[in-house]
Amino acid sequence: MKKTALITGILGQDGPYLAKFLIRRDYKVYGLIRRYSNPNFENLDYLGITSKVEYVEGDMTDESSLLNLIRLLRPNEVYNLAAQSFVGSSFEQAKLTTEVNSLGPLYLLNAIKLFSPTTKFYQASTSEMFGLQHTNGYQDEKTPFHPRSPYGVSKVYAYWITVNFREAYGLFACNGILFNHESPIRGLQFVTRKITDGVAKIKYGLAKELRLGNLDAKRDWGFAGDYVEAMYLMLQQENPDDYVVGTGENHSVEEFVQLAFKYADIKDWKKYIVIDPQFKRPSEVPNLKANPKKAFEKLGWRPKISFQELVKMMVEADLKRIKKTAES
Ligand code: NAP
Ligand code: GDD
Repeated sequence: MKKTALITGILGQDGPYLAKFLIRRDYKVYGLIRRYSNPNFENLDYLGITSKVEYVEGDMTDESSLLNLIRLLRPNEVYNLAAQSFVGSSFEQAKLTTEVNSLGPLYLLNAIKLFSPTTKFYQASTSEMFGLQHTNGYQDEKTPFHPRSPYGVSKVYAYWITVNFREAYGLFACNGILFNHESPIRGLQFVTRKITDGVAKIKYGLAKELRLGNLDAKRDWGFAGDYVEAMYLMLQQENPDDYVVGTGENHSVEEFVQLAFKYADIKDWKKYIVIDPQFKRPSEVPNLKANPKKAFEKLGWRPKISFQELVKMMVEADLKRIKKTAES
């Protein structure tokens, strides 16, 4: 019999990459979508798997829909990727962020405990939980949390409720503490995609400037397609555990900008950048850099795409996309 997986957040960035990864391994994949008049399958289309996923309806803020789904599907694995995942918006929409990101995982865990206790559970935890904390310049599984946004705070709850259900009820529940990962289907609000989309628009004369916030922030950026493998590997181990996943190297937003302009063959990048205070955050996370030693050693996982390759891949994809728009 085929293994089954339920992925929440199937229409986002990671959902399609994970679905593709699991389908290749012969899983039957169910994707949770909210009720929409017109759901947006663009990211799944990009990876060519829209028709290979079976869609089920529900909402992370609606406990009964999640209880029913787990009771009916009893999947082998649940990957909880759904979230209000944009840090910037979490300052203005703190309650919604908390309901989706904190209560959502609680509802799922409770449903698993009640109706399908052998289901393995993956929680999409995040390096944002570390905030200002580090251990000798890096963050690892032992680094304390000091979240700097309602998003980070909501994810700390989700992290601990996952640990608690593992300890209290023996569920196979894992936290993947993933550092920033990007791709050509990254949401346009996130800085990497905002930059590559902006650079492509400048290249083809559809924009004259790129407005950004804090260029000094540093992130440990990897490729989403690599990171979904780590999620899968966590659920294939003998025992459930929590893992930091990143590259171990970080770069500033400014470095990303410079490189993106370079790959688009646009000189003098500084003349296109406008620093706009509306894109600065009330409290910032200045520096994230993973120590992924545990994931390397225990999962045997490694990132395959370098920072430079990632920027190039994203710039090339946006140049191609925007060229079509400019020509139409
Ligand atoms: P994303 O592109 O923002 O996708 C999030 C998905 O969650 C969207 O498809 C969205 O659905 C869904 N969602 C939001 N609210 C929902 C609700 N109430 N009910 C059901 N679905 C809901 O995020 P991502 O980059 O793929 O990240 C996946 C997960 O990893 C998130 O939990 C994020 O917080 C976490 N994470 C991401 C990174 C990263 O760098 N990408 C790093 C660490 C952790 P709609 O399409 O319907 O809006
Ligand atoms: N979005 C955005 N827009 N960020 C900007 C801008 C801008 O115009 N200018 C500078 N930045 C800075 C932000 O202040 C932040 O320091 C950095 O660029 C990265 O911002 P985002 O790309 O929005 O990502 P994030 O690091 O806040 O959050 C992402 O990564 C987390 C993992 O560390 C999201 O994917 C989260 O969901 C994820 O948990």
